[in-house]
Amino acid sequence: MPPPPHNIDSTNMAKPSINGRHLNSVEEDAHSKLVSEHIADFDLVDIGAKQESTSDDLKDVRNILVTGGAGFIGSFVVRKLVVLYPEYRIYVVDKLDYCGSTRSLKAVSNFPNYEFIKGDITSPDFMAYLLKEKKIDVIFHLAAQTHVDNSFGDSFEFTKNNVMGTHVLLEAAKANGIKRFIHVSTDEVYGEVVSRPDCPEDTILAPSNPYSATKAAAECLVKAYYKSFGLPILITRSNNVFGPYQYPEKICSKFICSLLRDGKCELLMDVPTMTSFVHGSGSNSRKYLYAGDVADALDIIFHQGVIGESYNIGSAFEISNLDLARRLIRLFGLEDKMEHHIEFVQDRAFNDQRYAVDCSKLERLGWRPKTPFDVGLVKSINWYREHADEWWGDISCALVPHPLKAMPTFENSQTL
Ligand SMILES: NC(=O)c1ccc[n+]([C@@H]2O[C@H](COP(=O)([O-])OP(=O)(O)OC[C@H]3O[C@@H](n4cnc5c(N)ncnc54)[C@H](O)[C@@H]3O)[C@@H](O)[C@H]2O)c1
Repeated sequence: MPPPPHNIDSTNMAKPSINGRHLNSVEEDAHSKLVSEHIADFDLVDIGAKQESTSDDLKDVRNILVTGGAGFIGSFVVRKLVVLYPEYRIYVVDKLDYCGSTRSLKAVSNFPNYEFIKGDITSPDFMAYLLKEKKIDVIFHLAAQTHVDNSFGDSFEFTKNNVMGTHVLLEAAKANGIKRFIHVSTDEVYGEVVSRPDCPEDTILAPSNPYSATKAAAECLVKAYYKSFGLPILITRSNNVFGPYQYPEKICSKFICSLLRDGKCELLMDVPTMTSFVHGSGSNSRKYLYAGDVADALDIIFHQGVIGESYNIGSAFEISNLDLARRLIRLFGLEDKMEHHIEFVQDRAFNDQRYAVDCSKLERLGWRPKTPFDVGLVKSINWYREHADEWWGDISCALVPHPLKAMPTFENSQTL
């Protein structure tokens, strides 16, 4: 498990809440005891502080469903909600795709207000049953196919999981009188932002790759259920997210895991896993947010956001892919072998130059990112150093330049 947290003040963590129902003293004591027993399993900076103010209509919320909770960002959200809000029961539904792992939720597995359910959100019968059976009040919807590179290959999977999956959830939510449907989307739905200002939330969506197109399509459905049926939805659109627990296919975690393998792979000339691959010229830049800060934002948006609104979750920190590689190489103390650790490979089919969102609306709710980029990088490096090889099984296939999942073809289907 992650190393013990640095700034622990467990006394403020699991107080009975003014949100939802109050706990009786036995439940309260049991939760506090569990938090103290498992304190070494959490990074309490990431867990953060609970939201003490909440919309009036959320006072009797009891059951929360997190889809994709065994994934990267979802696991940060689940750990936070389980530890900070004993008055909520947190259900996780996840199909445990290649990038998901129940290890990411092990720290909360003994908590009575947590339950994991393996399942697929694209199944209407299953989702309808689950929402009814567990009397779900609130949904944090994070489950998705999330890797742009994969969407250049088997893009049908993206439409199935991201569009159909969202549609299925919306129908189940409509039938079950949900109080909040928090739909987690991405800054990529705006398309690249080169010679125009940072995008406010009412910018017309202009996605440019199959991943972002399916995220934008899912948003259209979410908004349609708000307009047509009054479903109490909120949408979030965040910059790139990084941190521990991220399957190492995305740039930060992939570079870190590649650099961690330096020395072990030197002889494998044709399996260049010791190198940080830079797509194209490396000039494409991204803004980064640490995952704990994104979980904070989702918590605030849930408790205080206005129904029907979208909220950008943005970072002021921007870095080109090439500079990110150089920064990590320096953090590893490998600057004398800088060129050895950088290899330029063919760019993606299409690669947006940059994304930029205006997040002043969320800042007005009191949110600010609290984790500086280098602090988040060091936390991530330490975590991957300890866990990368055990968390998801063999990750070598994720560390190649373009890990494309092939599209099923007519010829393939004939052999089935
Ligand atoms: N990672 C980022 O930089 C980033 C940035 C902005 C927005 N987002 C959005 O945040 C959400 C979470 O992203 P992440 O990086 O944590 O993703 P991830 O790939 O780490 O996790 C996705 C999880 O969803 C699960 N899942 C996928 N399809 C499912 C299905 N049909 N049924 C049940 N479970 C399913 C997977 O098993 C996995 O555990 C996504 O919706 C993504 O679009 C991510």
